[in-house]
Amino acid sequence: MDHAASERKILQAELRWAYLVGAIVLVILGAIVFAAVSMHINPPSNREYLDPKSLHLSGEFTEANLGTHVDRYGQVTTRMITTQFAFVPQCIVVPADRQVTLRFTSPDVIHGILVTGTNVNTMVIPGHVSQVHTVFRKRGDLLMPCHEYCGMGHSQMLATVRVVPPEQFKPGPDGRVDCG
Ligand code: CUA
Repeated sequence: MDHAASERKILQAELRWAYLVGAIVLVILGAIVFAAVSMHINPPSNREYLDPKSLHLSGEFTEANLGTHVDRYGQVTTRMITTQFAFVPQCIVVPADRQVTLRFTSPDVIHGILVTGTNVNTMVIPGHVSQVHTVFRKRGDLLMPCHEYCGMGHSQMLATVRVVPPEQFKPGPDGRVDCG
């Protein structure tokens, strides 16, 4: 084989690898777009900051404002603090088949939450608010564990999401609902 022929062979081999890699990249991109469009699996996208040192003193994440609240327009918002090594509150109530906004923040270290059997899954980073919009279809008590190693008590850190049928979801006069 002369020099030019072996050069051509090398070029062809390199091109084959380039096509293969290109095809793999397209498959991965396609999977990401498919998950986003048809399964609504997206990275968290809101950027909201707050001071982790004073979040318990004033503002949205004071103790009295935690848990599920329905505003006068019927919008359901649930606020929760993730902390070493517990969720506050430990149990939340949400209605099934209705848009719910979950808002989390952390005063100490990074935690991660997921609600089993749903697409709710986010990191909770001190200094930020993590927000998830979702509609719960499954009813009953769903487990919400911390899935980011946050210290010695990580494996004991879990909460309950109680999904009740819409007709059993009855906010009090102050718009609040809790596990009672
Ligand atoms: Cu919180 Cu692991």
